[in-house]
Amino acid sequence: MTRQLHLNLFIHGRGHHEAAWRHPAASPLALTDIDYYTDLARKAEAACFDSVFLADTLAAGDDIASAPRTWLEPITTLAALAGVTSRIGLIATCSTTYTEPFNLARQFASLDHITRGRVGWNIVTTWLATASGNFGGQGPLGHAERYERAEEYMRVVKGLWDSWADDAVVDDRAAGRYAAAGAVRPINHAGPRYQVTGPLNVPRGPQGRPVFVQAGSSETGRQFAARHAEAVFTAQMEKATAKDFYADLKRLAAAQGRSPSQILILPGLSPVIGSTEAEAHRISRELNDLSDPEVGRKRLSGRFGGHDFSHLPLDRPLSPEDFPDPALVEAARSRTEVIVGLVRREKPTLRQLLGYMAGARGHFVTAGAPEQIADLIEDWFHDGAADGFNLMPPVLPAMLEIFAAEVVPLLRRRGLFRSEYTGMMLREHYGLSRPDAALPQ
Ligand SMILES: Cc1cc2nc3c(=O)[nH]c(=O)nc-3n(C[C@H](O)[C@H](O)[C@H](O)COP(=O)(O)O)c2cc1C
Repeated sequence: MTRQLHLNLFIHGRGHHEAAWRHPAASPLALTDIDYYTDLARKAEAACFDSVFLADTLAAGDDIASAPRTWLEPITTLAALAGVTSRIGLIATCSTTYTEPFNLARQFASLDHITRGRVGWNIVTTWLATASGNFGGQGPLGHAERYERAEEYMRVVKGLWDSWADDAVVDDRAAGRYAAAGAVRPINHAGPRYQVTGPLNVPRGPQGRPVFVQAGSSETGRQFAARHAEAVFTAQMEKATAKDFYADLKRLAAAQGRSPSQILILPGLSPVIGSTEAEAHRISRELNDLSDPEVGRKRLSGRFGGHDFSHLPLDRPLSPEDFPDPALVEAARSRTEVIVGLVRREKPTLRQLLGYMAGARGHFVTAGAPEQIADLIEDWFHDGAADGFNLMPPVLPAMLEIFAAEVVPLLRRRGLFRSEYTGMMLREHYGLSRPDAALPQ
């Protein structure tokens, strides 16, 4: 079979555009209503998407009065979605900085059973500085420390998921034997940050481990992804940087002795789709007219670890000197590089930059007719920029519905995307092998 495209639906608020929650085409349901998520997951499943994904931040924004930044917690939400879907993969974000590894391993092993092998874990170190105020109050950890901690964390959780052999549970009622002798073992991890005895108290899930998804793009983030990630989300503002990122990550994974086919690169794509290009641009303008530059200014400040941008006028062209050096930012470093790179290239005013960021927070935004969106997807897919896309519809559910009805059939006609699922598990949708059940010695 020819190489197939992968599609993940990133569910975020009532859509990825900052003003989506106010747009007439957005869902009338509350963001706390499970029916909203059920509807989206079912629609994505009907279109044969590989997966849906929920992000997670660990603090309410300080602009909650004018921007919804809170919705349901991902793990519990995905558990609910497990019961109303049967094939689509379900990916939840969970933080290595603020979750005990035993809890996380147990929840994801449970989810893998509950979903019958459809769960993925978006591994994040939590860049948001204000999250630390909700967890012990010791202040935010630096970028390097977060990734070092995450590295040890991965050893612990992998050990826990592997602490049960695949066939450990014999459940032999007649003989009175539940688990095979020696098939469940402690891990006895004693590292600088974690001491975990194990074994896990949940048997190994159908996929062995959840599919590992990761989204850090800094130098350290890429090295981490090359070692652990099986799918990588990334924010790229243009095809050229997406190609560089793609080539770099495949190379780094190969240098770790991994097959490049076992690490999928899925850039974010936020398409405003109209029946004509002119209509798509009209919808874009409507969305931009609804957004508030002061909400955007606060969000920009958060990206740069709380840096104060309040003195910058909205209508003067920006220069890189208006921003802190991305290399010194302790928050989401790669996103700050994307933003400063755009400023260096295009010298937008702050208003223009905020307008662009309002689209999808620094991910690739485009507006066009279905044919144009399909062309773009095919071009990136065939030209070494993507193995698929993290679809970020600007307005939900409207732009997902249009994508499924108008773009997906074009992708199928071009032989790029499945018409039905061939496997049951997320690993199968993504073409990933199952990890060996290597019990610790
Ligand atoms: C598509 C996408 C989704 C992300 N979701 C989350 C999330 O839910 N929670 C979070 O704390 N960080 C999230 N991140 C941020 C990354 O995990 C990472 O912290 C960020 O990209 C900065 O990484 P870096 O410092 O290695 O550049 C996301 C990033 C991308 C591109």
